[in-house]
Amino acid sequence: MKTDNKRTVRSDALALFGITGDLAYKMIIPALYALVKRGALTIPIVGVALEKWDRKQLQARIKDSLQQNGGIDDKKAFNKLLALLHYVSGDYTHPETYAAIKTALGKAKRPTHYLAIPPFLFENVIQGLGAAGLAQGARVIVEKPFGRDLASARELNRVAHAVFPEDAIFRIDHYLGKEAIMNILYFRFANSFLEPIWNRNYISSVQITLAEDFGVKTRGAFYESVGCLRDVIQNHLFQIVALLAMEAPTRQNPDAIQTEKVKVFRAMRPLAPQDLVRGQYAGYRHEPGVAKDSDVETFCALRLFIDSWRWAGVPWYLRSGKYLAQKVNEVRVELKPPPQKLFDDSPTLSGQSNYLRFQLAPHSSIGLAARVKKKGKEFVGDQKELFVIEEEPGEQSPYERLLGDAISGDRTLFTREDASEAAWSIVEPVLKTHPRALPYKRGSWGPKAAEIFAFQNGETSLVSR
Ligand code: BG6
Repeated sequence: MKTDNKRTVRSDALALFGITGDLAYKMIIPALYALVKRGALTIPIVGVALEKWDRKQLQARIKDSLQQNGGIDDKKAFNKLLALLHYVSGDYTHPETYAAIKTALGKAKRPTHYLAIPPFLFENVIQGLGAAGLAQGARVIVEKPFGRDLASARELNRVAHAVFPEDAIFRIDHYLGKEAIMNILYFRFANSFLEPIWNRNYISSVQITLAEDFGVKTRGAFYESVGCLRDVIQNHLFQIVALLAMEAPTRQNPDAIQTEKVKVFRAMRPLAPQDLVRGQYAGYRHEPGVAKDSDVETFCALRLFIDSWRWAGVPWYLRSGKYLAQKVNEVRVELKPPPQKLFDDSPTLSGQSNYLRFQLAPHSSIGLAARVKKKGKEFVGDQKELFVIEEEPGEQSPYERLLGDAISGDRTLFTREDASEAAWSIVEPVLKTHPRALPYKRGSWGPKAAEIFAFQNGETSLVSR
């Protein structure tokens, strides 16, 4: 997106904290390679981590990461990436580490520092960068979760602002870099046909599902410190809600968009325990790193309301979980039935009404379901989906897109301080006070209790693939 944001100067180096970690291995290194491949990354990269690796070990790790995550199909780009790489090994709490980074950054005047490290280290590194004079003219990309509740998010913002101005802080949420999610913003505001129906008068509910058919894998210890609500709902799903619910920004400008999103979060009613069903998949407590008596939720379904002129009274149902029946990520905007039940099969509030569906994964598509008459004398019909778009090949990965944006200073797809804090304040009341996590079978749609939230399951079968 074009931006008139003032910090659009390109960075002249990238310091990647946590280069030996899991996130770098799976996501960031492949994104760096993709950027180099299309000529969008030519600046030096300084990888930082605790491991005492030599250059050879680092290069072997880069190679392995690429082979496991997409492959190496351009040897020249691979060699270029290796040539751009430097490595600094050190403890994030030691000033010597930052002195070594400074040396490795050489003449760079506007580095981007990417904190792909465990959240408890964010503050240490930010302060270390400040003390070493490495924040001057620099940007910092901070991974999620940005805080673990409102108070810690505020504290992290305070620490970050003591070192970096707000427009140099890039809070990353990889969902915002997904093509299908960017399309929600575009589709809503590039078309006029939606606007007349995009409100409480025509929409009966909005359902957002992020279902995964696998468990916490090797991330048990991390997951224990977050749970589903903090891991994906407060950030990924809330960002989708904001894009669906916001008013049109006055301009195509990062701050104008953020301002509209913040208004949505501020209009959301803080959650109460009865708005929430928490679940835990069978066997979670036996996963490595998980407490034997853990009450951490691997499933969460909730109902929220946005108390605004546009959305008053419309329930928003959000759910996410691990080990659910299928991997699917989609938004369903349910429309109200016509005012009069003219035909025997006319839709009612409880089903069969039209809907708009944004499928984000496993395939991206937008579908509009409408009833169409079946041939014959009877006035009865079927619900048919009209496809507006289908997935296009060659999309950039979210990390490639966001990393490229941060290096060039485009903040459109990053979260501003007030948006992050406002989102925390919605979940704050249920972070500690909540119903116990109910057990559910792997491969189900979560605990039965979540059925009160009227989600439509299995509708993906309507997609003719
Ligand atoms: C991450 C969460 O932020 O998002 C994971 O930590 C989750 O637990 C993942 O699996 C989902 O992302 P995606 O892009 O695979 O839908």
